[in-house]
Amino acid sequence: MSFSQDFLWGAASAAPQIEGAWDVDGRTPSVWDEPEAGAVRHGENPKIACDHYHLYKDDVALMKQIGLKAYRFSVSWSRVVPRRGQVNKKGIQFYCNLVNELVSAGIEPMVTLYHSDMPVWVLEMGGWDNEEVSNAFAEYAEIVVKALSDRVKYWFTLNEPQCFANDCSHQTPSGDINRATRTILLSHGRAVQVIHRYSVQPARVGLVIMGICPIPVEGIMDENAALEMTFSERAGVMGMGWWMDPAILGTVPEALKDTISEADMEVIHQKLDFFSMNSYFPANFHDYPDRTNPLVQPGMPRCQMGNVLDAEVLYYITKFCYQRYGLPVLITENGTCMNDRPCLDGKIHDPQRTDYIHRYLLALKRAVDEGIPVLGYLYWSIMDNFEWAYGYDVRFGLIYVDYPTQMRLLKDSAEFYREVIESNGENL
Ligand code: NOJ
Repeated sequence: MSFSQDFLWGAASAAPQIEGAWDVDGRTPSVWDEPEAGAVRHGENPKIACDHYHLYKDDVALMKQIGLKAYRFSVSWSRVVPRRGQVNKKGIQFYCNLVNELVSAGIEPMVTLYHSDMPVWVLEMGGWDNEEVSNAFAEYAEIVVKALSDRVKYWFTLNEPQCFANDCSHQTPSGDINRATRTILLSHGRAVQVIHRYSVQPARVGLVIMGICPIPVEGIMDENAALEMTFSERAGVMGMGWWMDPAILGTVPEALKDTISEADMEVIHQKLDFFSMNSYFPANFHDYPDRTNPLVQPGMPRCQMGNVLDAEVLYYITKFCYQRYGLPVLITENGTCMNDRPCLDGKIHDPQRTDYIHRYLLALKRAVDEGIPVLGYLYWSIMDNFEWAYGYDVRFGLIYVDYPTQMRLLKDSAEFYREVIESNGENL
């Protein structure tokens, strides 16, 4: 079997990581804009980032050059709603312009409503501690859907709730994870309702989860054990089931039974169109403090953030999630990072990224070959960007960004990816 003819070959980004323009045209700050001392490497911040807010036309032209069929970006809540009850026309205009540019380049726009950048005014309401935030989120979703849904069909409510729920100091002042989970899941459910109510065309909606699963290892863990561990409730808030079971299956993990009511589930359990997931590395190669994990060997292939690379994870996670949820799978992020830099010939040679993409796509193809419906693959990221606590050292892009000048350069891997897209994966 091959990738389907309408396979969504794409790349992804997120507003707080690329847009910059943090205080331009009426945007108010998000919790990431002024990180506490020591929170981000070298004291960096996302205030300027890739200045995509001003350079989006050039960036879309590069996407077109790579041949992308789809591009997933996120909307900055505080750019659109600078304070509750207000609507920032200039903020909306930016996203309209971006979507227009994508559409005229023949690139399918895909919108994430929330990618970790909580507006400061939302934190002042109590962040995820306050159930009312889910209503504020629905109000924001309504504004975005009304503005973009004539051109946007693909919507993601939230990205990787495991990350921002767990990040208690930032977004959940009380540190009460169960309470935060309830508000987050209600926000998701209300947003799905709003998308369907106001979209001017049939919308396709998902919740993007951080995909975590162990891979089978001979003599240590067979496939059934890996599957069982993937959805074990022991993983708690970091697990996929904690979020996706309520959202997709309508069931509530034991630990949340006293927090989430049946009435809540009426809101949370909405029909989703695909299982959207970010996947980077297998879950069973972590160093334990006592160094007892026999799978961890010196000098293993790792990305610049230290995570072990093993492409098999993309095959297994796709298979496991399809087995449990029965929805077509959309890989909303996958990629690798290193400290790329121009070589003496002025080009960015990144053979390790090319090899990474090649291997992970072969693993994904194995799932496709077995008949699992896979709708698309979005490389993370379209361009180097602000990698949260790692700042700008860590580069994931297909496009190199020289931050002081904002000059862009396609990396070798972008050329490889262009060929993959052009051949619909037949060159793998
Ligand atoms: C997943 C997150 O969604 C994204 O924001 C982050 O940059 C990548 N992982 C890489 O760590």
